[in-house]
Amino acid sequence: MDKAEILIVEDESVTALEIEEKLKSIGYNICDIVSKGEEAIKVAKQQVPDLVLMDIKLKGEMDGIEAARIIRAEQNLPVVYLTAFANQEMMKRAKITEPYGYILKPFDEREMQTQIEIALYKHKMEEEIYKIDKLESIGVLAGGIAHDFNNLLTIIMGNSQLAKMYTNDKKILEKLEETEKAAMRAKDLTQRLLSVAKGGPPQIETTDIDRVIKETAKFSLSGSNVECEYDIPEELWLVDADKGQISQVIQNLVVNADQAMPLGGKIEIKAENILVKEDEYLPLKAGRYVKVSIRDEGEGIPQKHIKNIFDPYYTTKNRSTVKGTGLGLSVCHSIMKRHNGYISVESKVGKGSVFYIYLPAANDQTEKILREEDNPVFGEGRILVMDDDKMVRDMAREIIDYLGYETDFAANGSEAINKYKLAKNSDTPYDVAILDLTVRGGMGARKTVKKLLEFDNNVNAIVTTGYANDPIITEYEKYGFKAAFSKPYKIKKLSQILSELSKKDKQ
Ligand SMILES: Nc1ncnc2c1ncn2[C@@H]1O[C@H](COP(=O)(O)OP(=O)(O)OP(=O)(O)O)[C@@H](O)[C@H]1O
Ligand SMILES: [Mg+2]
Repeated sequence: MDKAEILIVEDESVTALEIEEKLKSIGYNICDIVSKGEEAIKVAKQQVPDLVLMDIKLKGEMDGIEAARIIRAEQNLPVVYLTAFANQEMMKRAKITEPYGYILKPFDEREMQTQIEIALYKHKMEEEIYKIDKLESIGVLAGGIAHDFNNLLTIIMGNSQLAKMYTNDKKILEKLEETEKAAMRAKDLTQRLLSVAKGGPPQIETTDIDRVIKETAKFSLSGSNVECEYDIPEELWLVDADKGQISQVIQNLVVNADQAMPLGGKIEIKAENILVKEDEYLPLKAGRYVKVSIRDEGEGIPQKHIKNIFDPYYTTKNRSTVKGTGLGLSVCHSIMKRHNGYISVESKVGKGSVFYIYLPAANDQTEKILREEDNPVFGEGRILVMDDDKMVRDMAREIIDYLGYETDFAANGSEAINKYKLAKNSDTPYDVAILDLTVRGGMGARKTVKKLLEFDNNVNAIVTTGYANDPIITEYEKYGFKAAFSKPYKIKKLSQILSELSKKDKQ
């Protein structure tokens, strides 16, 4: 998120500067400092800060409580009072304005930060709930009337068509044609409105969003003078999503970006894996998500309109043309909500806008690896995998089994050595040992391979590490390994190495 913008309302300039300095050092932007209530109302309207820090006793006619009341009523901005006074009467008046916080002077920096953070968070969540409530009630309404509405349109269309058969009058025919056209458009509209309302529950499947993004963007921009650039990493997680619905979200966002740049330009689409933690200011459950950003360099959206753009029927485009029913973003919002995801926006007038969507990552990521690496080499033999991370071991089992081998596991170096020795003296020795470079609280690959070499100087040991840049990846031979690769496993490469090593052993 961008730095929060704060408006300081304070009539003592020394205090105001002190507050400004503190807030800046915490990491906020100060959009303005004013000393009068009337000014505060004006600036709040023009600049739409994220929060107003309001002194109660001000110069001029209006005090801070009255200014806060008006700002709350007109713009619903969060206000935190900062004051040296706290008598009963004043508290009573202040309470009515539903402040988001109340800080007493002299203030403590940490308390101020806590109060501001809580206020920002609370306000954001309230706006989110408000948005959802609004869209839901529209949805119920739309769902309710859509059926009747369609029937009425059928009657209008039918009668208009019949009427055309009873006349040869050119003027009347023309009017009836227009009536039909309008009725057809009304029908499309009902459909779109219905998809805000219902669109059905998403048909969730494990989805490779990379492909959905690229195909949809290409399709949406056909014939446009706008170009699309992608920044999508290979290791992007799969997501739980309804392909059709997500494609609709991407389409609406790309079309909006395109329309924001009538003279042409560039759209950047970026995708990344992110971990959302409990304490993050996002209306999402903690967990793994794929975040997609769609950035344009178009006209941007004025701050004061941002809270309206997800509203059904909010549009700044020409309604009489095909574009601009104002439903695109409402549809996006309700689809994202049905996916337990989230959509948000950042924008600067004249610079451009970025829309972010968050989709929950799928639980099972194996499918992607299996799908991407389409031509692995299959083989047979026994593989010992030493890794201290159970999830890595489970993943390794799935992949190595898939390649045709039998797997066995060790959680650290000593266990690996014991198992290796036992197997070596049995009928079923290991063909290859895959050893993790770093084992928390135990023996890692370097030491383990040394000991294994003392026991079996032909050991087929492979070193693996999560750090793709570790020098051991290129210098593995120096340490006695036969191969090296970085995690996450790339199936094709792993399959080739395993096949080579296990064959060599059998010759
Ligand atoms: N990328 C963007 N750049 C600038 N303004 C945008 C952008 N995306 C949306 N907006 C603003 O938000 C409004 C609502 O967008 P939304 O997609 O919901 O409706 P629309 O594009 O006007 O009509 P529709 O999508 O139904 O054809 C737009 O009219 C525009 O003012
Ligand atoms: Mg649109």
